[in-house]
Amino acid sequence: MSQFKPRVFSGMQPTGNLHLGNYLGAMLNWVRMQASHETIYCVVDMHAITQAMSVWGGPKELNTATRNVAAAYMAAGINPKRSILFNQSQVAEHGELTWIFNCVARLGWLNRMTQFKEKAGKDRENASVGLYDYPVLMAADILAYHATHVPVGEDQKQHLELCRDIAIKFNNDFGVDFFPITEPVIMGPATRVMSLRDGTKKMSKSDPSDLSRINLTDSADDIAKKIRKAKTDADGLPSDREGLEGRPEADNLVGIYAALAGMEADAVLKQFGGGQFSSFKNALADLSVAKLAPIAVEMNRLLADPGYVEGVLNDGANRARAIAAPIVKEARKIVGFVVG
Ligand code: TRP
Repeated sequence: MSQFKPRVFSGMQPTGNLHLGNYLGAMLNWVRMQASHETIYCVVDMHAITQAMSVWGGPKELNTATRNVAAAYMAAGINPKRSILFNQSQVAEHGELTWIFNCVARLGWLNRMTQFKEKAGKDRENASVGLYDYPVLMAADILAYHATHVPVGEDQKQHLELCRDIAIKFNNDFGVDFFPITEPVIMGPATRVMSLRDGTKKMSKSDPSDLSRINLTDSADDIAKKIRKAKTDADGLPSDREGLEGRPEADNLVGIYAALAGMEADAVLKQFGGGQFSSFKNALADLSVAKLAPIAVEMNRLLADPGYVEGVLNDGANRARAIAAPIVKEARKIVGFVVG
């Protein structure tokens, strides 16, 4: 499928509370991909409203969260001139292509989606139709841009397989070679950040303990305090990886240090192993503050000028539309719709 030039697309849910896990797991990857690829990053506000309003918070919260998440990505290093940064609902082609894909995707395929089952929970009858259709909208997000590479977490793998199935079936049904078979770029478990209170649980914005996570909006003092209070066991820091086995909290802190410093865990252990845990924690606190505190400062600076963030999203939407509109128009022609 060499007719498709490499193009990266990814999406993030609008949430005000981004944390270190989001930063190391997704944001840093996206920032890095800017150097080597054409990159399109989308705040998926249409996906956000698929869940109960109590989950996404209502109109005011959605609006704020969309701006916040855009500002956070810019603060972390997404350059809105280099990348296209926009919110999904401003580009009508996403919804338009979703309808065509709704008629390509099969009920049986969607019935197998594990994330729907998890999110719908026991009360499936009361889940929104949008939640069921979530993966089809996601396929439209990607294919409206003929995106070839999609960086996502492990949990989105099944959705990307569905995206490929939709592209294959569309191409087959209409006898065309129109949509690319998108490659997932799975962001590795190496960047899985665990709770600072329990090394076996993922760092999460929904954990009731704020000490369990480092928010991207935390002050330097809070960041340092949370690292110093992070749970550890009674042993010191080992000097090799084997010594971390069965010690999830120590493993997590070493992993965080390595990711923030751009080092391998082995090198971190070589440097700090054998020493007191507390001195490693001090070094980690300093490094975390140095890397993260400026993001909060920059985010606040950006948010102080709502017109700027809005301008970035509008400009991004215009540039996104310029790519998606001809592709979706062609898809309509292929289907047989009368296209003016
Ligand atoms: N479902 C993705 C997530 O929760 C977000 C998303 C929506 C996305 N559309 C996308 C990711 C398109 C990649 C490409 O992480």
